[in-house]
Amino acid sequence: MAQQFADNFDRKFYYLRLSVTDVCNFKCTYCLPDGYKPENGKRESFLELDEIERTVSAFARCGTSKVRITGGEPSLRKDFTDIIRTVASQPGITKVATTTNGYRMEKHVAEWREAGLTDINVSVDSLNPHMFYQITGENKFAEVMAGIDKALEVGFKQVKVNTVLLKDLNSTELPLFLKWIQTRPIQLRFIELMQTGEMNDLFKNHHQSGVSIRNHLIANGWLLKARGESDGPAQVFIHPDYVGEIGLIMPYEKDFCQSCNRLRVSAKGKLHMCLFGDYGVDLRDLLQQDSQQDELIQRIQTQLDNKAEGHFLHDGHAGMTPHLASIGG
Ligand code: 5AD
Ligand code: SF4
Repeated sequence: MAQQFADNFDRKFYYLRLSVTDVCNFKCTYCLPDGYKPENGKRESFLELDEIERTVSAFARCGTSKVRITGGEPSLRKDFTDIIRTVASQPGITKVATTTNGYRMEKHVAEWREAGLTDINVSVDSLNPHMFYQITGENKFAEVMAGIDKALEVGFKQVKVNTVLLKDLNSTELPLFLKWIQTRPIQLRFIELMQTGEMNDLFKNHHQSGVSIRNHLIANGWLLKARGESDGPAQVFIHPDYVGEIGLIMPYEKDFCQSCNRLRVSAKGKLHMCLFGDYGVDLRDLLQQDSQQDELIQRIQTQLDNKAEGHFLHDGHAGMTPHLASIGG
């Protein structure tokens, strides 16, 4: 193995989030309220399969064991199954995950699993179909639910569900969500709304801290689970009467960044040190030939030497990230 990717704060990077498209067919109020619009109105060029392969190969040589394929909506790529197969076949990659809005899942999840997908996250912002429509702009609640059932049916041991916590929209649904996971192997993760560049009043009107949920859980016998090495920043709670688990992702909490173990590559081949970093470093010129791998690794490590300790969200500083569809959440 080449040298393990690490930074100056003793954080090691085992986990790559690789975006494969900026395109999305949903219009989530907190992400793409007006739907996806290509930059400059042009058809855009996202990483091709061979570029994806070279990216993952370099990261795997430097200790990356987990890759999450993100978007936009990654399953909109026609070659999505081939992407999964390519990522899964890189030596050293033991976990291949994706984050999807779930609308193509019922039809394709068996094929994704067969290609090597090991973990799946689905966004579900409400269990009420009308509220789901109001938040996502798409009337696809039933399809997404069927997709989750199908994933469990074809052999995924657990499905992770992401719910962006929105005050006065889905914040009253906690009892409904708890009932839903009581009998299902779902890890339901409440994500605190993060302020991004293009977001105005939504944050002011609908941001709610996860603390209220944490207090409710603790008061009702839920216990905090210990964290594993490649786990994300979620605080996970378990309860003897529930098959499912609850995760809390609270990016505004002190020391959230201390457990950072991930790097990001955008769909256009830019390396981002942080979701809220100010710049991305282009890797694409080094993704054209296998012979460029050493130089690619060198460029990535140089950037890591400059990675900052934490984000500056608290100062209302959302970096250059206009919305999370542009960098894969
Ligand atoms: N704040 C919090 N979570 C967000 N996501 C997208 N935008 C935001 C935001 N501004 C989440 C979605 C999805 C994942 C890809 O990122 O809910 O689950
Ligand atoms: Fe699409 Fe995900 Fe953004 Fe919703 S949050 S608009 S599903 S990329």
